[in-house]
Amino acid sequence: MIYLSPPQVHPDDQVAVLAAMASGWLAPVGPALDAFEAELGIVTGQHVVALSSGTAAIHLGLKALGVGPGDLVLVPTLTFAASLNPILYLGAQPIMIDADPETGNVSLQDLSDCLAQLARIGRLPKAIIVVDLFGMPAPTQVIRDLVRDLYDGQIKILEDAAEALGSYSHGNSSITGPTPDNYPVGHFADITVWSFNGNKIISTSGGGALGAHDLAIVGQVRKWATQSKEPVSWYEHQEIGYNYRMSNVLAALGSSQLTRLKDLVLIRQQIYDRYAEAFAPNGIVGQSEPSDVVSNRWLPVFRLPLAHSVVLSLCATLATDGIECRSVWKPMHQQPYLQGVVNQQVSLIGLQQWPNSDHWFRHAICLPTGPSLSLQDQQFVIDRVLTMVNTVV
Ligand SMILES: Cc1ncc(COP(=O)(O)O)c(C=O)c1O
Repeated sequence: MIYLSPPQVHPDDQVAVLAAMASGWLAPVGPALDAFEAELGIVTGQHVVALSSGTAAIHLGLKALGVGPGDLVLVPTLTFAASLNPILYLGAQPIMIDADPETGNVSLQDLSDCLAQLARIGRLPKAIIVVDLFGMPAPTQVIRDLVRDLYDGQIKILEDAAEALGSYSHGNSSITGPTPDNYPVGHFADITVWSFNGNKIISTSGGGALGAHDLAIVGQVRKWATQSKEPVSWYEHQEIGYNYRMSNVLAALGSSQLTRLKDLVLIRQQIYDRYAEAFAPNGIVGQSEPSDVVSNRWLPVFRLPLAHSVVLSLCATLATDGIECRSVWKPMHQQPYLQGVVNQQVSLIGLQQWPNSDHWFRHAICLPTGPSLSLQDQQFVIDRVLTMVNTVV
């Protein structure tokens, strides 16, 4: 089977994990964890705490931004459920925003319309979750400036960069003055979250991290994630805590993988480019990359000129050929468990529609990528997709 995004396990990774085990520091903390956090800090330009998952990082990130019961949090509807669920863990209310038709990231128009509408009814959100979909950097700088200029910086931004380690933006010179150099994703957010689960660009088998420029936020999250233990010689807890730290052994795996980040990104970008070049003449269009950003192309996403039912049967046929293929995220507003949340949103701000996200779901698919995908397998994927599309069209 040619899988979508299998992890790469390098011999160096095995050496690193065995060394961490031999050191006796199994869990919960240890020198490999400190080292991984410091290395991630250098790569991302932020203070970092490594956690048990990206989901845990979003949970504590929202809590650190002050999100609590009854607060509103804006979130793209076209994303993985883990972007939204932590809003509900905290008793807050998600407000789902449509996607941009070209990038799949949050639609700036819909976001600013929604903010204006919420301002009119006096219910500004506490936070906005911005997702870098399939690794494509979202326009976080524009959103930050919008929030700063129109809403006095009262609304905080959490960037869900679970899929986007290694992606960056050049910054938007029309807003900040001279074009600055590259900014790793998350630079313009109050808090950034990454995931290192098994299918991500680097993997710690399961794991994630939270970053912020504000050291106090990271310190607070580190404490919450370590059962909110007070620094005294007995077990003292002044507030509720969580068991969300990454283990020392997994951090050693993360450090080892992180040394290869640039190569791992390059491989995925090259695979995306190969697909894109082969597909373009057939009207199969990739996820657009705005000129001011560079995507790690974590997963190659393509929009097919076919009806939804045909897209689904194409994926099923690819599976029988041994090629894993998935539709892009089914939008959150279509998820059965969130129909109550949709109704709440409708009663707050009226009839809602998310046509671009629906369109992405109906017509776009994710194809295999990753460091173990041979040129031969890439060509096999291309040939099978083109054969099927040309048979139908
Ligand atoms: C966009 C997005 N957000 C959040 C997560 C959650 O990360 P994790 O699986 O590490 O909890 C993922 C990964 O699966 C993701 O793709």
